[in-house]
Amino acid sequence: MHVAYLQLMRWLARNVKRKTLWFLLFCIIFFVIFTIVHNIDMTCQGNMNWDKRESTMNDKRHAPNETTVKNIVRSKMVVLKESTVESSILASTKGLDFGNEVRHVAFLKVHKAASSTAQNIFLRFGWARNLTFVLSPAKNKFGYPNIISLRESLTNSNILPTPKDKSFDILCNHVMYSKSAFDYFLPKDTMYIGILREPYEQYKSTLNYFHPSYIFNRILGNFPASSYIRDPKKYEPGSVISSWTNNRQALEFGFPLHLFHKFNTSEVQLILEKLASEFRLVIIAELMEESIILMRRYLHWSVKDVVFLDKNVAINKKESDLVQSNDRQFYRQWAKLDYELYEFFFRKLRSQIRDEGPDFDQELLLFKEVRKNTSIFCLNNPNKDEFLPIKKSKWSEPFNITWEDCRLMRMGEITFVQMIRERQYGSKDI
Ligand SMILES: *[C@@H]1O[C@H](CO)[C@@H](O)[C@H](O)[C@H]1NC(C)=O
Ligand SMILES: *[C@@H]1O[C@H](CO)[C@@H](O)[C@H](O)[C@H]1NC(C)=O
Ligand SMILES: *[C@@H]1O[C@H](CO)[C@@H](O)[C@H](O)[C@H]1NC(C)=O
Ligand SMILES: *[C@@H]1O[C@H](CO)[C@@H](O)[C@H](O)[C@H]1NC(C)=O
Ligand SMILES: *[C@@H]1O[C@H](CO)[C@@H](O)[C@H](O)[C@H]1NC(C)=O
Repeated sequence: MHVAYLQLMRWLARNVKRKTLWFLLFCIIFFVIFTIVHNIDMTCQGNMNWDKRESTMNDKRHAPNETTVKNIVRSKMVVLKESTVESSILASTKGLDFGNEVRHVAFLKVHKAASSTAQNIFLRFGWARNLTFVLSPAKNKFGYPNIISLRESLTNSNILPTPKDKSFDILCNHVMYSKSAFDYFLPKDTMYIGILREPYEQYKSTLNYFHPSYIFNRILGNFPASSYIRDPKKYEPGSVISSWTNNRQALEFGFPLHLFHKFNTSEVQLILEKLASEFRLVIIAELMEESIILMRRYLHWSVKDVVFLDKNVAINKKESDLVQSNDRQFYRQWAKLDYELYEFFFRKLRSQIRDEGPDFDQELLLFKEVRKNTSIFCLNNPNKDEFLPIKKSKWSEPFNITWEDCRLMRMGEITFVQMIRERQYGSKDI
């Protein structure tokens, strides 16, 4: 009977609206407590060895006889009595479904949008489970083994074939987005995750990192980028695809090229709606922790799976030397597609967070604490046998952060991708 109540509660949690759910939950808890109080004598007489009961409960190979069934029911009652509140919380919490973690993920790794931080999560997840990644050949024309393409989407020639008897699980290296190309190479049930950063921040980071030659080699003066942004068309390379600064985020999200020449509000709107139906989540770099918690819930991953250290954060903060204060306004006019894209998914993220309910903020607080403890532990260069225990919470079993976890969280993406390449194809050079 009580087993059935628990299952019913889980089913309700998944299928029924919140208010109805709380009411039903209240009724059920009341009834369960009532029943327990009435059965308490019987339970105490039981006086059985806990381990024995546990193993009886877990043994699914034989159909239990009547005595065994009675014992199982009794032991469930003891558990319930001790943690009625706890289990009711668990039943109502989204994302504690560890059984069905999503293992097919496509992550669109947009340049200079904090995407290495997010990518490390996917690399670690797949590494721990020996999943198969979509990889470029080690030697490709971009000179980076972690880049599939800067100009096109997935093709048979820019990625390696699947290893024998395997299919792809995870894509998280740089490539342009195209729904049909992604669909062609990835399983049907793949969950799509993107990332975006505030466009002007992304632009400054791009200037600092790529130092585009059509700006810094062609324009004279102390502030070439300021001259550039006041008349970008004059300096832009011949094709949109060769540019780092012409709405690059929209370009990597697969916006059609004609929109870069002529903006069209209604067409942009249609594309945004289409992207929103294809991507389960677009991470917003400015709301990184919030985004990652949402992602954890959507993917049914554990808290440990998504803990991250801040990576690739520009150490030499000379970005601000490259621009002047008025540049932002000019950039906003130029990067219309990027701003539409960013603002659309920023609003969408806010609304997705609202849909999660008040419990989301609690998980956010916990996550910040876990991250803080983890960074302190990892920054202290622990020995191989040291570990950091993380307490049990509403969203997570207790777990340890180990030396190996720190190593993988800190590992650069090129090293990590090469390590996966070696395991997946037996060679670093393939
Ligand atoms: C029922 O099964 C348990 C454990 O498998 C056993 O110890 C017990 O004797 C059985 N009882 C009856 C009535 O068959
Ligand atoms: C803008 O896009 C819409 C929808 O694709 C199209 O019907 C319309 O003709 C376009 N307008 C211009 C000026 O190109
Ligand atoms: C983080 O560390 C503090 C101080 O050691 C500890 O009290 C706290 O329980 C830790 N948090 C978690 C979630 O483990
Ligand atoms: C954490 O590591 C310690 C030492 O290896 C171990 O005793 C403990 O059970 C671990 N805790 C968890 C939750 O895995
Ligand atoms: C991981 O996969 C490779 C081949 O893809 C296989 O050779 C290896 O045994 C697997 N390792 C584990 C631990 O499953």
